[in-house]
Amino acid sequence: MKNQKLVSGIRSTGELHLGNYYGAMKGIEKLVNTYDANFFIADLHTLTTHPSREHMSKNALEAAASYLAAGLNPEHCTFYTQSSLAAEVAELSLYLGMVMPLGELMRCPTFKEKAKKHPDNVNYGLVGYPVLMTADILLHKGEVVPVGEDQLVHLEMARQIARRFNNMYGEVFAYPQPLAENAVRIPALHGQGKMSKSDGVDTYISLQDEQSQIAQKVKKAYSDPTRIYLQQPGHPSVQGCNVYHLHTYFTDEQGQQQLREQCSTASVGCVACKQRLAEEIEQIVEPFRTRKQQLTEEQILDTLQQGAQSARLSAQKVLQEVRNAIGILMV
Ligand code: TRP
Repeated sequence: MKNQKLVSGIRSTGELHLGNYYGAMKGIEKLVNTYDANFFIADLHTLTTHPSREHMSKNALEAAASYLAAGLNPEHCTFYTQSSLAAEVAELSLYLGMVMPLGELMRCPTFKEKAKKHPDNVNYGLVGYPVLMTADILLHKGEVVPVGEDQLVHLEMARQIARRFNNMYGEVFAYPQPLAENAVRIPALHGQGKMSKSDGVDTYISLQDEQSQIAQKVKKAYSDPTRIYLQQPGHPSVQGCNVYHLHTYFTDEQGQQQLREQCSTASVGCVACKQRLAEEIEQIVEPFRTRKQQLTEEQILDTLQQGAQSARLSAQKVLQEVRNAIGILMV
C-alpha cells in the first residue's frame, strides 16, 4: 500500500540538464513504486518569463518526454500537465494567497534574485510563484516532494502556507517535506555555482548531449587549479577539485576512493580522471537518450490525457474539502 503522497514538478523551459535530472527525476522508478505519486509538468509556472506561443506546447511535450525517458511509469503514478488542471490549481492558489503575507513573498530570496536580474519584468505572478507551487503540492495533500536544493526555500514556504491555512481553517493539509537524495546541488562544469542553463552550454551537461559532446565538455571542466604538472599530487576533495566534486555525484564510492588514492599520489592525471567522469555521465545519459528517441508525440499526449483525468478527480475532492473548511456557500 502506497500511503504517502508524493508531488513533484518540473518547469518546462526547454532542454534539461543533469542538475534538473538529479532534483526531480533521480530514482524516479523507485519513487513511483514507493509513493502515491503525482508527477506533473509545471507549464503555467513558465509564464512568469513570457515564453513564445510555439515554445509553450513544444516545451511541455519535451518535458513530458523527459519524464518518461527518465523511467517514469505512468501506469503506476499520476502524470499530467499543470495546465490541464488550471482551474483547480488556480482556485487553490487563490485561497492560499489569502493567508500568505505579501511581505514574506517579497523577502523570498529567489524572488529577490529574479527581480534584481530582470527589473523590467517583476510581475504579480513572479511574487506569487511560491503560492502557485504550494497549490500544486497541496492540491494532492502532498507530503513528500523531491526537488533540487534550489527549491528548498519554496518548500519551506509551502509548509508555512499549509500551517497558516490549517491554523485558520482546521487541519486540512500535511506539511510537505523534501527528499534528501534529490535535494542536491550539482556543480557547474566551470566550477562556479550550480549547474544552470543561463551560464552557457559548456557549463552544463544536457540530457540530450551525445557521448562526444559530453566528453568534450567534461574535458574542459575546471579541475584542481593548484595541480599544474602531471607529477604533482592533486587535491581530490569537494573543495579542492571541481572534477572530483562532480565524481561524488556520478561515480560510485569504490571508484571515488580509487581516484582519491591515485590523484593524491599523482598516478592518475586530470585528463584520464575527466575521461572517467565523462564515461560515468554517459552511463546515466545514454539510456535516457535512447528511451526518449523511442517515444512518439501521440503516445505522450495520450498518457498525459489519462493522467489529467485522474489528477482532476482527486484534486476536486481536495478542493471540496477546502471549500468546506473555509465555509464557502455551496450552491
Ligand atoms: N518550482 C519548481 C522548479 O522551478 C517546479 C515546481 C512547480 C514544483 N511546482 C512544483 C516542484 C511543485 C515540486 C512541486 O523547479
